[in-house]
Amino acid sequence: MYEGEARTDETRTARTRETIMSTAKLILEGKEYELPVIEGTEQERAIDCTKLRDTTGYITYDPSYANTGSCRSQLTYIDGEKGILRYRGYPIEDLAGKVRYTTAAYLLIHGELPTREQAIEWRRQLTQNSLIHESMINFFDQFPVTAHPMNILASMVSAMSSFYPYDAEDEEHVYRNVVRLIGQVKTIAAFAYRKSRGEPVIYPRMGYSYPANFLRMMFASPAEDYRVPKVLEEALRVLLIVHLDHEQNCSTSTVRMVGSSLANIYAAVSSGVNALWGRLHGGANQAVIEMLQRIQTDGGDYKKYVAMAKDKNSGFRLMGFGHRVYKNFDPRATILKKACDDVLGTLGINDPLLDIARHLEDTALHDDFFVERKLYPNVDFYSGILYRAIGIPTDMFTVMFAMGRMPGWIAHWLEMRNDPETRIHRPRQIYVGPTVRTSAGRRAVD
Ligand code: ACO
Repeated sequence: MYEGEARTDETRTARTRETIMSTAKLILEGKEYELPVIEGTEQERAIDCTKLRDTTGYITYDPSYANTGSCRSQLTYIDGEKGILRYRGYPIEDLAGKVRYTTAAYLLIHGELPTREQAIEWRRQLTQNSLIHESMINFFDQFPVTAHPMNILASMVSAMSSFYPYDAEDEEHVYRNVVRLIGQVKTIAAFAYRKSRGEPVIYPRMGYSYPANFLRMMFASPAEDYRVPKVLEEALRVLLIVHLDHEQNCSTSTVRMVGSSLANIYAAVSSGVNALWGRLHGGANQAVIEMLQRIQTDGGDYKKYVAMAKDKNSGFRLMGFGHRVYKNFDPRATILKKACDDVLGTLGINDPLLDIARHLEDTALHDDFFVERKLYPNVDFYSGILYRAIGIPTDMFTVMFAMGRMPGWIAHWLEMRNDPETRIHRPRQIYVGPTVRTSAGRRAVD
């Protein structure tokens, strides 16, 4: 049973657990205002500014939103100082160590871990809904060979709304589209790859795990049997789980922003795919490998690149380093670094890029520039090396991230949709352009 409606009550119940701590005093032009201070379940505190403009005429100024809480959420908790990441209260280390990717996705979407029966039914639904509309398969042929797979993914996800229209008021319709999106994203990703290589597509099959189905669609040949290597299936499971959700990051906030206008789920999520593409966000996993290759081609002189990253005039940053929230370590990077060692060890792969990455990390972690700014390897620093070991081409890395993130975006979209506090997102601005000007007609040159 889909819990969309019921969630509204749960949300309200959880809110009653939040304490209004106290009030913050604000003095403006000699006048005193009291603003409520709210506290979340992990003692994160916020000054509630929702009535600020109405009562004072002022707005807050926070470009790039580093100090702004845009919503209340029950999905994911991050403590950037302590390197904590939890989905619905469960530590990422626990989930990445134990559960199937689809189980973790169920947890995010439904709020609880599934029973055995629920998990089986959920997997059945996801595989049954993973075939893409036959008419859409032709679309892949229309993209130029140079098209980036992220562009293909975003376009195909957006196009799904033409093939699967739905009634936004009907919970059953919404649920079916949630399942379609999670089921089909891996098929779209694999087909984009096969088509770009001029190879026949391989359809998804019942009886395979989510990661195994994807690997089969990527690498099997219709002419022979293909056994999904266990070690690769396991590596992909871990990767997809660490990508699942990361609270109000750039792409997730984009999904919520677009969704707040009541645009359909496909429109909202495809916007998230586009936001993820950028090199400062999910696109960093491709950028990391390109950077490591550049260092390799340049004779392996990683110290030169550390120096360049410190030089503000170079315009160069160490890709895969730094994070807006993590200021100690990124727990996802720790998980993936270990997975890299395990997988490359098991497969007997000696990837010279991994050596360069280790040297880079070690040098940067002992360099004052990075230490003072609290810059540590993030999730993207090691994910690319793992994807290479699996055999995923570099331009598909960010697509892999998007595939893992899909249930997270959807869970946020659902939460936003069911939150009685949601209004259309509409930040304000401080206008700094010219004040009123007159006589435009007289000055015009045409
Ligand atoms: N290399 C060198 N210097 C850096 C780096 C880096 N990777 N990241 C930040 N800095 C420096 C900045 O120059 C700045 O220095 P300053 O205070 O002397 O001016 C300081 O550290 C703070 O940087 P900001 O850009 O203000 O930090 P912000 O929180 O806005 O950016 C971001 C975070 C985008 C992740 C940044 O660290 C970055 O560009 N990293 C490289 C790209 C990357 O790996 N992105 C993936 C992030 S994880 C994800 O989205 C999935």
